Amino acid sequence: MFDLIVKGGTLPDGRVADIGIVGEKIAAIEPALEAQAGEVIIATGDLVSPPFVDPHFHMDATLSYGIPRVNGSGTLLEGIDLWGELRDLATVDEMVERALTYCDWAAAMGLLAIRSHVDTTPDHLNTVTAMLEVRERVKDYIDLQLVAFPQDGFYRAPNGRENVLRALDMGVDVVGGIPHFERTMADGAASLRDLCEIAAERGLMVDIHCDETDDPLSRHVETLAYETVRLGLQGRVAGSHLTSMHSMDNYYVSKLLPLMAEAELSAIPNPLINIVLQGRHDSFPKRRGLTRVKEMQAMGIRVGWGQDCVLDPWYSLGTADMLDVAFMGLHVAQMTHPDEMARCFTMVTETNAAIMGLGDYGLRVGATASLVVLDAGNPTEALRLRAGRLAVVAKGRVIARGERGDERLDIPGRPALVRRRLER
Ligand code: FE2
Repeated sequence: MFDLIVKGGTLPDGRVADIGIVGEKIAAIEPALEAQAGEVIIATGDLVSPPFVDPHFHMDATLSYGIPRVNGSGTLLEGIDLWGELRDLATVDEMVERALTYCDWAAAMGLLAIRSHVDTTPDHLNTVTAMLEVRERVKDYIDLQLVAFPQDGFYRAPNGRENVLRALDMGVDVVGGIPHFERTMADGAASLRDLCEIAAERGLMVDIHCDETDDPLSRHVETLAYETVRLGLQGRVAGSHLTSMHSMDNYYVSKLLPLMAEAELSAIPNPLINIVLQGRHDSFPKRRGLTRVKEMQAMGIRVGWGQDCVLDPWYSLGTADMLDVAFMGLHVAQMTHPDEMARCFTMVTETNAAIMGLGDYGLRVGATASLVVLDAGNPTEALRLRAGRLAVVAKGRVIARGERGDERLDIPGRPALVRRRLER
């Protein structure tokens, strides 16, 4: 007897299976389960995936677009200035309210685990107070992992170091940093040494906004790899953005990639945001703001896709749909081979979960019973259509249902899109 069976769905690896759920856990995955269930979701012909995961977001800023005004230049630096005003204007309640609205959007999209950077710059730490409350309030359906992020600099801001430590003491999960925003390259490198030492002492993971610049000489990722190995943090450290790698000299990169692989760094490019923020100082040719995704993957480096922003001082669009994120990444990184397209789907599910260290994630017996039923036959079609969510299950509970669209080509008994258009 199961509480819930998701019947007949196609898993991302192509297997067709029934998934039996008891309580908050997956109890069985079989070609055909005969047992009774309290509730059944028929998923015949639909893709059943583990939930989407976003390893890079800013939930303290989300849904604030236009407050106090829009980002006129569209640059990262004007966004940081705007946010500097907003974080002192917004009350804890307002930030909580906006974040909970975003979490509703995310849940409806099957996005059930999010790593959010929380700005620790202002001494009031309202951002931290708000996000800790949100983490608690959404815990039944979203795993929210918080990063202590010294937006204005670990050294450059007056109490940068102290406030990171205070945030960690308050219960924030991960150590963050922004070395390219410190006053000097030397300060940036020193900040990484200190931040990695804090993580090592406390047994925490690290996720650094690293080299989010078009400056090819921004090489903090090298230091991040070095400190990771020195302190034995292999596998627990992520470099977010890494956009300077786009502009680096190829010879230097040929030395850098093995160092990153040795340190088992994870990389988190954020294609929606980097494509609009980077290259703003270029005329033409205008650089694309994306790190070397395929080249890192070829070296065995773990690379996920992050969303970064939705409707905030840095980005004026966004829907909490990780398929949008992967779709943009696929294009900008030119990952158009069938294997690469399928990998883009894996990046916003399994790979991102591994980056966040989610041990009970996945479609396997014993894992947490969280999944999403997509209106698509396979991962590539899900990307092509940015497929609708037919059902979202979070920790054993059905939390959202959606309508079937009419774009698919492969549903038996239904005329294909092209034919229908010709018949009109
Ligand atoms: Fe970010």
